[in-house]
Amino acid sequence: MDISGKKAVVFGGTSGIGLAASKQLVDLGATVIAISRDPSKAGDLPAGISTEACDVRDADAVSNLLKKLAPFDILVSAATGGSRAIGEFASMDLDGYKSSFDKLWGYSTVVRHGIEHLPDHGAIVLVSGSPARRCGPGQIALSSVGGAVEAFSRALAKEIAPKRINVMSPGLIDTPMVPLQGEERDAHYKRLTGNNLIARPGSADECAQGIIFLIQNDFVTGTTLDVDGGILLS
Ligand SMILES: NC(=O)c1ccc[n+]([C@@H]2O[C@H](COP(=O)([O-])OP(=O)(O)OC[C@H]3O[C@@H](n4cnc5c(N)ncnc54)[C@H](OP(=O)(O)O)[C@@H]3O)[C@@H](O)[C@H]2O)c1
Repeated sequence: MDISGKKAVVFGGTSGIGLAASKQLVDLGATVIAISRDPSKAGDLPAGISTEACDVRDADAVSNLLKKLAPFDILVSAATGGSRAIGEFASMDLDGYKSSFDKLWGYSTVVRHGIEHLPDHGAIVLVSGSPARRCGPGQIALSSVGGAVEAFSRALAKEIAPKRINVMSPGLIDTPMVPLQGEERDAHYKRLTGNNLIARPGSADECAQGIIFLIQNDFVTGTTLDVDGGILLS
């Protein structure tokens, strides 16, 4: 797909990986609508990116917004959705475990209400995460949800072809998702990435490059692209 002149809708497009993807899409000539619950947190955005407020957990709001924005060529969701439960399953609060799936429900709501507005050349990209296939201690909720997102995308690719859907799976990425600052932040990333093949956190821009590839390459559908510094082999 030649991204120039296309219209892209990016849920979670106001921070981290989604914001980096929005900026790269604009650099390639797209117009972008970046959506999140509170887009004002994004601050000043480049010309070409406009914002809308919407919670992906509100299906009616998502449906109405996508109707208003239609038609569009590109649909991305990197919206985290809700809280993420960390810890061992045996002692985990089950409500916390279930609410981690807000990410899947958010993605599926966005896709369900977005597909009808995508043309045949349209492309969807979702974001999973390396715990889907390499789960560290305490990551069972992340792993379950990430695995579900990847399975959802593979299954859906068959139903919506020639429209395409793919997943970009990040490893540990330095984004505002981690609120730590300064030395504490550096130590956090050093501890978690020091034994990886590429021993540093990835950047939102590196992940966005993966998203752009999945949009541009018309011969790729139903797959997951790992942008993770080799964490699956570490
Ligand atoms: N960073 C990592 O190390 C990492 C690793 C693996 C996977 N991931 C995945 O990558 C994706 C992006 O993460 P990130 O690191 O870029 O996080 P981030 O910087 O915190 O950005 C998350 C974005 O999602 C939006 N969002 C969250 N809940 C939402 C909701 N219910 N409705 C609408 N928008 C919502 C946020 O905006 P509002 O708060 O304004 O709603 C924000 O724009 C997530 O799916 C995350 O699970 C990240």
